[in-house]
Amino acid sequence: MNKTFNSDLCSKCGNCALNCVMGLIEMKDFPEMPGPEAFCNQCGHCEAICPSGAINLDGLAKGDYMDNSERTLIAPEQLGFHMKFRRSIRNYDRKPVEKEKLEEIFDMVRYAPSAGNGQPLEWTVFTDPEKIKEIAGNVVEWMRDMVNQKSPLNEMIPFSPMVEAWDNGMDPILRDAPCLVVAHAPEYNKMAVTDGVIALTHLDLALPSFGMGGCWAGLLNIACNQHHPLKEMMEIPPENAMIYPFMIGYPKYEYQRIPGRNEPNIVWK
Ligand SMILES: Cc1cc2nc3c(=O)[nH]c(=O)nc-3n(C[C@H](O)[C@H](O)[C@H](O)COP(=O)(O)O)c2cc1C
Repeated sequence: MNKTFNSDLCSKCGNCALNCVMGLIEMKDFPEMPGPEAFCNQCGHCEAICPSGAINLDGLAKGDYMDNSERTLIAPEQLGFHMKFRRSIRNYDRKPVEKEKLEEIFDMVRYAPSAGNGQPLEWTVFTDPEKIKEIAGNVVEWMRDMVNQKSPLNEMIPFSPMVEAWDNGMDPILRDAPCLVVAHAPEYNKMAVTDGVIALTHLDLALPSFGMGGCWAGLLNIACNQHHPLKEMMEIPPENAMIYPFMIGYPKYEYQRIPGRNEPNIVWK
């Protein structure tokens, strides 16, 4: 990766040096990177913050250039409403989720922060209802085995009623969602779990703007942690650890109001 400083354009404001996460840029007559480039995590902040466009990082996928004057801030009331109105969706319309829309959403999600700008996430997206049913069915088979076992999980999850619901044609695991996405990352990257949860939270928050909604697939996640064939069935690469599965679809019902929540528990110092 090459970072070039264009001295003709540089106004010597020093913003690039002040905003470099690793403190790699020194402001002399012009910005310079005297240390080893290997420490640069390629976050692109120097290029993005430069008022005169004097910094160019090649080797990076170009981010979208946005003139500050074109930027529209979301008003706090609008954002607050959007965040509070987001719900976990458990009943989906049969309408399939369009690949183009998912691509648009993942284009936003890839901007979620990641430790050291590592961007370690890989995604597997299922849109075949038969395959999603097969995955849910496999979780139910694991639950069937769990019903008579002495496990602390039996106190947390109502296995029997869930198996019964499945046998009666319902899907309490993946809620007949038309789409299932799974975030995974190389097993050796111990920071990737946090990165994955952050990215999934961005995804969750992006969905309502597309008329969609989703739900963290916690039951599938627990089953995957206990029951190894599921990871193979979902074709997660063996060298990767699953971070979390998430259901997506068009909500069948519309929420009419925002439910209550606890007051924030904060200690002010
Ligand atoms: C990590 C996690 C796992 C979850 N797993 C499930 C699940 O397996 N099935 C389900 O119906 N809801 C699941 N949920 C949704 C929660 O029940 C939901 O977030 C909570 O009831 C609050 O509702 P809200 O998201 O609409 O505000 C999960 C949520 C999280 C954050």
